[in-house]
Amino acid sequence: MKLVVRLGGSVVATPVNTRLISEYAEVLKKLKAKGHKLVVVVGGGALAREFIKIAKELGLPEQDQDDLAISVSRLYAQLFAKKLGEVGCGKIPSSVNETVKCLGKGKLVVLGGLKPGMTTDTVAALVAERIKADMLVKATDQDGVYTKDPRVCPDAVKLDKISFDDLPKFLAEDKHKAGIHQILDPEAVKILKTKQIKVHVLNGFKPENLLFAVEGKLVGTIIA
Ligand code: UTP
Repeated sequence: MKLVVRLGGSVVATPVNTRLISEYAEVLKKLKAKGHKLVVVVGGGALAREFIKIAKELGLPEQDQDDLAISVSRLYAQLFAKKLGEVGCGKIPSSVNETVKCLGKGKLVVLGGLKPGMTTDTVAALVAERIKADMLVKATDQDGVYTKDPRVCPDAVKLDKISFDDLPKFLAEDKHKAGIHQILDPEAVKILKTKQIKVHVLNGFKPENLLFAVEGKLVGTIIA
């Protein structure tokens, strides 16, 4: 299976969780050993947001804020790639082309952000589109997609399956803003919907969820 995993910075890097990073490295290696082709896109988490805030306070434009957040996500990607060792790419790709090239060499590719004006969700969607991925897994800090934001609404209900058409009803923002945080960026949704790439949103604090998702088990919310 060709798989893109969008690993939340909110999961592995807020604060940096070395136990989780080690567990993910093992799970990813296991999947690769089974013959799956994997690209992992790591988000910038709280530190990226902190840098956006600092840049904003310094009066820097949104593009510069984004550049800093991208650097943070790449730093986490580098950490991951180092932990993967031989099976990973030597260098963190800075474009979709480089990602494809590295994947073509039989490597497990880890990357962060690519360019200002998007999020790592969109990076993951662009990669998934290019490699014709079978599935995009979003490993996040919630159990899946809810009817409302579960962090603020106790009556929010988790959805098992949802269509791309229905998804916008449950998303709060529909335009890019530096540091936007929600279950799946609308720009990414557009790409995934057009290309009909299935998404499995699941709880990233349990790395074994990734194994279950690849086996076709429902552990979070499927968007298709
Ligand atoms: P992330 O994708 O890291 O944040 O982008 P997220 O979606 O909240 O996910 P996690 O929880 O951290 O994984 C953070 C910000 O970095 C900039 C944008 O401002 C984005 O909102 N960014 C990121 C870019 O400009 N380009 C990219 O390719 C990636």
